[in-house]
Amino acid sequence: MSQLQRKVQATLAILAQAVRDYAPVTFANSLGAEDMVLTDLIARHQPDIIAFSLDTGRLPQQTYDLMQQVRSRYELPLHVYYPDAARLESYVAQHGVNGFYDSVENRKGCCLVRKVEPLRRALAGKGAWITGMRRDQAVTRGTLETSSFDADNGLQKLNPLLDWSDAEVWEYLKANDVPYNALHDQFYPSIGCAPCTRAITPGEDIRAGRWWWENPENKECGLHVVSRIPVRA
Ligand code: ADX
Ligand code: SF4
Repeated sequence: MSQLQRKVQATLAILAQAVRDYAPVTFANSLGAEDMVLTDLIARHQPDIIAFSLDTGRLPQQTYDLMQQVRSRYELPLHVYYPDAARLESYVAQHGVNGFYDSVENRKGCCLVRKVEPLRRALAGKGAWITGMRRDQAVTRGTLETSSFDADNGLQKLNPLLDWSDAEVWEYLKANDVPYNALHDQFYPSIGCAPCTRAITPGEDIRAGRWWWENPENKECGLHVVSRIPVRA
């Protein structure tokens, strides 16, 4: 068995156990490369896991194109959540449509309205949620656990690709002809909202293009900055 096959088997075991222990389980799908691996694995092996995307209203066109492609390629529904209109109008009235560039506080405020509050609605009533985070993606992700209790959201959080390398993600996508975001071929390894994501140059960190004007320590949007209590050794 190849190294990649071993990783796939381990990931499938985590997904199966999640469904056994925590149903209903949901998968937060940003349509990034890691999440396309999970989209493919879930569609083939664990179709009871409900996928959702947070549409901030500021995603790149290429992400919307991929969202549409996923809809026709896989039969599973992808639930798309939107920011609360009144909260967004109030944020924009106070800070302006591009107010997130003005300070870390304003940026986090925008992420709160456009991502974190819709995330809470997406997670309501679920027993666990799944993300595509990998340990070596960022300094902020080195201590992540495969399974931990997300106290802020009140449910289990699973990171089944935690030990995958970037090369393994791409090996899987290519080997299984999985569609992916066209921006990845234009030096965008990590993709979020269009105004907060830029291409990187050779040698730069893979998340250097996300909120590039901020320090690496700040580069989480609030989806993943929570107290983490590991439950399994
Ligand atoms: S972020 O916090 O910096 O935006 P990143 O883009 O690395 O996160 O994605 C990490 C994981 O967060 C993804 O694998 C996915 O599970 C979840 N996620 C991020 N953005 C979204 C989104 N727009 N919709 C659904 N899930 C998302
Ligand atoms: Fe707003 Fe940028 Fe956060 Fe998107 S990534 S929600 S545009 S601050």
